[in-house]
Amino acid sequence: MNQKIFIKTFGCQMNEYDSNRIYDSVKKIGYEKTKNYEDANCYLLNTCHIRDKAKEKVYHEIGRVKKIFRTKQKPLVIIAGCVAQAEHQEMLKREPYIDLVIGPQSYHKINDTILNYFEKKKKIEETEFDAISKFQYLSKIKNKARKVSSFLTIQEGCDKFCHFCVVPYTRGPEYSRLFNQIIDEAKYLADSGAKEIILLGQNVNAYENEGYKLSNLILEIEKLTEIKRVRYTTSHPKDMSEDLIDVYKNSKKLMPLVHLPVQSGSNRVLKLMNRKHTISEYLKIFDKLKKINPNIEFSSDFIIAYPGEKEEDFKDTFNLIKRVNFINSYSFVFSPRPGTVAENLDLIDNKVSMERLEKIQNILFENQIQMNKSLENKTIDVLVENLTDDKSKAFGRSEYMTSVIFDGKETDIGKIVQVRVKDSNRNTLFGEIITNSDQKVA
Ligand code: SAM
Ligand code: SF4
Ligand code: F3S
Repeated sequence: MNQKIFIKTFGCQMNEYDSNRIYDSVKKIGYEKTKNYEDANCYLLNTCHIRDKAKEKVYHEIGRVKKIFRTKQKPLVIIAGCVAQAEHQEMLKREPYIDLVIGPQSYHKINDTILNYFEKKKKIEETEFDAISKFQYLSKIKNKARKVSSFLTIQEGCDKFCHFCVVPYTRGPEYSRLFNQIIDEAKYLADSGAKEIILLGQNVNAYENEGYKLSNLILEIEKLTEIKRVRYTTSHPKDMSEDLIDVYKNSKKLMPLVHLPVQSGSNRVLKLMNRKHTISEYLKIFDKLKKINPNIEFSSDFIIAYPGEKEEDFKDTFNLIKRVNFINSYSFVFSPRPGTVAENLDLIDNKVSMERLEKIQNILFENQIQMNKSLENKTIDVLVENLTDDKSKAFGRSEYMTSVIFDGKETDIGKIVQVRVKDSNRNTLFGEIITNSDQKVA
């Protein structure tokens, strides 16, 4: 077979990792990656189910593909990811244009599923939770991401069942990959050009395999000389264990940005959400980390207007943001998800919800702007990832993950360089290169 596959990815970094691994897999049966819809004879949509209209987005996208291929031969159409898992039975019935449906824990079967389809012309859905076989399979095929900053999934699934969240239903129970499998993948990524590894999991800090924890993984991976930076996401406050906090004392390569979703600043709402942590526990983690290194900064996820959120609860969230001074965060109005405990709860009035969201976003954005402004006329370390589209500048990231655009060259890609920040906006720092530097952690 000499075929071309186009993958469109919605959702979180784990879906991005999965899409790359799907490319690695289908290569074995003759598929090449294409960046153009029109060239593809296989179209795969890797979907996300986290907020509303997820399902509709998928059907809308299929509508677009149908139009593009109206006068051409229909591509093989595969729906993967979390909507595939949640809606599998319905999808093949509702949209005959879809050929295969593959859940996030079953994509290691994709090659057989495709070949089977061509042999028998029978539509198939693969939606078992089979994390062990998936990671066994993935450990045998090389991760060909070849990116300066590469994702590495170490843990998958969730047993926490926050009342608003679909992830335990779409990704299945918590599973941690074998320690040695992860180290082998990290070594391979390092050998093929990665300078930064971002360890991924829905509850990445719940990682535990044969006594090894996330802290052990970080310290082991940073022994790889090619790797200059290590990050992890997304963590849960309940799993922020002492050994992980201690890594911030000992690690040379762990970056000083902690993404630790809190969801709400009110203990009452956290309880309604079944979050299993309190604000004082959250602040204890914050204080401990700040004591270890005052340059450590926090980012978070917030759900605004969760059913039952009163004005006082909302104020608590506002106050928490002021206290922690999150430098970069995601915030969304609560969206009822099918199958979750919160699915049928009474919603807060839409106008009130939107007003609260706006207030929260204003303060979060203001923090971001101030953080970036505070770096103007300072020199920062930047890991250079690539050139801008018009090739006139270089693009990299600061230790806090902020995008940096500066006058770098192709030869800077993969290096940590020093950049003098000249200007900034909410999302980006603009600067001039000073000199190449060795790794330096804030
Ligand atoms: N495991 C992570 C944690 O516990 O914080 C979060 C993973 S989830 C994929 C990413 C974010 O989506 C959550 O932190 C939450 O803020 C948001 N989210 C999840 N369900 C939501 C819902 N029903 N409505 C709005 N936002 C939601
Ligand atoms: Fe969803 Fe909660 Fe699990 Fe995070 S901890 S993935 S928010 S159920
Ligand atoms: Fe979305 Fe599934 Fe990730 S629901 S956020 S793609 S785990």
